[in-house]
Amino acid sequence: MEIFQDRIKDAEEAVSRLKDSVKEHQWRLRYHVVPPAGWMNDPNGFCFYKGEYHLFYQHHPFGPEWGPMHWGHVKSKDMVNWEYLPIAMAPSEDYDKDGCFSGSAIEKDGKLYLIYTGNVWIDGKEDEDLKQVQAIAVSEDGIHFKKLAGNPVIEKIPEGDINKYHFRDPKVWKHEDFYYMVLGSKTNNNTGQALLYRSKSLLDWEFVSVMAKGEGNFGFMWECPDLFELDGKDVLVMSPQGMKPEGNKYHNLHQSGYLIGELNYQTGELQYGDFHMLDHGFDFYAPQTMIDDKGRRIMVAWMDMWESVMPTQTSGYAGAMTIPRLVTSSNGRLYTTPVPELQQLRKTLVEHQHVTVAEETWLDGVHGDCFELITRIDIRNASSFGIKLRVNKETGQETVLQFDKQSGKVTLDRNKSGTGAGGTRETEVTMHKNLDLQIFVDKSSVEVFINRGEKVMSARIYPDEQATGVFFFADEPVKLTELKKWDL
Ligand code: FRU
Repeated sequence: MEIFQDRIKDAEEAVSRLKDSVKEHQWRLRYHVVPPAGWMNDPNGFCFYKGEYHLFYQHHPFGPEWGPMHWGHVKSKDMVNWEYLPIAMAPSEDYDKDGCFSGSAIEKDGKLYLIYTGNVWIDGKEDEDLKQVQAIAVSEDGIHFKKLAGNPVIEKIPEGDINKYHFRDPKVWKHEDFYYMVLGSKTNNNTGQALLYRSKSLLDWEFVSVMAKGEGNFGFMWECPDLFELDGKDVLVMSPQGMKPEGNKYHNLHQSGYLIGELNYQTGELQYGDFHMLDHGFDFYAPQTMIDDKGRRIMVAWMDMWESVMPTQTSGYAGAMTIPRLVTSSNGRLYTTPVPELQQLRKTLVEHQHVTVAEETWLDGVHGDCFELITRIDIRNASSFGIKLRVNKETGQETVLQFDKQSGKVTLDRNKSGTGAGGTRETEVTMHKNLDLQIFVDKSSVEVFINRGEKVMSARIYPDEQATGVFFFADEPVKLTELKKWDL
């Protein structure tokens, strides 16, 4: 216990030393959850506890790169105004000495339980010879945690075709009389899979089954699985590592997506349909969902990608969360849209109606580097049209969202976005008469919601501060039936 408290104190001190210097940085996101200083990856323990949203995250407090994992912690009443809380977890025990890896949170008898993976490197080799176990920390106030004396609660990896090293990222939920846990895993010959456990007490866990396993091009390891019920179906969200590109899909280093199906709680088997991606941009990984007091399923993800260039690292911090997204389903697909609470951020409104756009057009008052833009485009006879964001005409910087009517494709191009990685990402969207767009721009991010969450594209971009232009373009005139833009 003492070691744990000392480790938290060291971590807190490291963050305090750095945090003032990163505060006003040009690329620091203004309305997204970002680390106070240091490094952030996966969302963890996203939950609604005693009337507030709690969000934890994989955190390295001692520097802007990945390192021994702690759990950072923020909470909020509205998912808009987040309050930084003390670091919740630090490596301190034999079973988690090299990191408190990803996991989830659940309330039981008024207490908040964090269920996470304890990581230990054996012989210093990072990809094999590691020991991963599942452990629990508990809190009475949702802020200060104690690791259970009985940890780890799952130590032995089950028999069968289950890799002995990679065994992590527990997500726990309650169904009828049992708690269930889904874990990320892989087979001995590197096929991603998810394992199912169950428990009456939350403390003693029994292995049920390999709940689902990839076939074909489905990654060598599934990280961060999350299972939940939505509209009478069971949804498995997970992040497969290493799927090969197929057409315009799977071009990021690792993917995140979902399967919709039915979980047989007796056999532990998930019958499922096709795999679909949750975001079609560049920077989206390890999403985690929670259900709030209004019964809404809400998701956040890490808005970055492993091994990607992160230009803020030279300034002492890296990593961000996406805005919280409401998850709904329709016709066998998930839709994700910004939670309505974000409307609180809206400041000055600029509005235009029935504007015709031909060639390249800018609109009075429509520019910025921290805004929300909603527009409905009447496509008319155009075959190619779109929006350029974060434009600087002098330097040629721009981030381009381009639609192609014939192919039904949308492309997000960040080749001229500034510093950082370039590239394009592409996906299909429904394009009949109209197209609906809702775009969130924050200092170094763009999140595009197309047709009310049919497709979403997220990207980190690092333009210079003068790149604030917004331009609409079209090969044949299109009409912006309505356009609203708010500074945030
Ligand atoms: C996913 C992941 C998890 C792991 C964590 C470590 O991004 O690799 O599988 O628990 O990050 O930080």
